[in-house]
Amino acid sequence: MSGPCRFRADSRPVWCDHGSVIARRTLDRAFWNLHARTWDDELARRERSDRIARLAPLLPSGGRVVDLGCGTGSYARDLAAAGFDVVGVDFAAAMLERARTDTEAEFVEADLDRELPFGDATFDGALCVYALQCVHDPHLFLAEAGRIVRPGGAFLAVVVAPGARPVRPRRARLGTYAFWLAKGAIARTNAVRRYTAAEARALLDAAGFAVVDERPATNGTELLARYEPNTAR
Ligand SMILES: C[S@@+](CC[C@H](N)C(=O)[O-])C[C@H]1O[C@@H](n2cnc3c(N)ncnc32)[C@H](O)[C@@H]1O
Repeated sequence: MSGPCRFRADSRPVWCDHGSVIARRTLDRAFWNLHARTWDDELARRERSDRIARLAPLLPSGGRVVDLGCGTGSYARDLAAAGFDVVGVDFAAAMLERARTDTEAEFVEADLDRELPFGDATFDGALCVYALQCVHDPHLFLAEAGRIVRPGGAFLAVVVAPGARPVRPRRARLGTYAFWLAKGAIARTNAVRRYTAAEARALLDAAGFAVVDERPATNGTELLARYEPNTAR
C-alpha cells in the first residue's frame, strides 16, 4: 500500500478513497463469507487448546478478551467456556452467524482495517489467530489492538509465513473446491500478507507488544506478548 495511511475523523483509513482498495476489501469479505461453510474443516483443535493454555495464565480470572478476526469463533468459544468474558470481531457476517451458536461469547461485526469499536484499555487481552495476513496495514491494526488492550495485557498472534501453502481442505465438497480456487485468486490480489518470525516480532515490538514466547505454528509462527507501551526496548 503506498501513500499516507492514517485514520480520518470518520475512522476510515485515508487510503479507503482508492477504488482498488475498496474492490479488494469487497473481494476479501466475499471470500470469507463464502468460506464460512468450510472454515471449520481446517481448524486444528490440538493447536488451539495448547495456545489457550499458554494465553490463559497471562489473563486475570474471568478477564475480558477480544478475538480479532475470530472467524467461526472457535477460540472465542473455548475461552468463554474457560470463564473469560469474550468478544469476537470479524467482518464476515456468515462467519459470525456460525460463531454465535452455543456460547456465552459476544460477537461484533467490524473491520480490522478501521478504528475498532471499543474504548481505550477495554480488554485484559487480545488474540489474532491467522488474521493478521488479511490486514492491509499491520502498523495501524496493531496500534488499534494496543489502544483497546490495557497496559500489561496479553496478546496472542499467529501469523502466516512467507511461502506457506494454504491448508488443503479436508473434505471434498464442490463448494470447498470453489473456495480453494478463490483462495488462489485472493493471494494474487496481494491481499494476503505473510511475515517471517523476525518480521512479526518487529511489528509487535514497534506497536509496544513485548514478545514473551515465540514458536513455530502450522504455516507460520505463534507469538505471545505483553502490551508494554511505555517500556523502552
Ligand atoms: C484465516 S481466518 C481465521 C479465523 C480464526 N481466527 C481462526 O483461527 O479460526 C481469518 C478471519 O479473518 C477475517 N478477516 C479478514 N479480514 C478482515 C478484516 N479486514 N476485518 C475483520 N475480519 C477480517 C475473515 O473473515 C476470517 O474469518
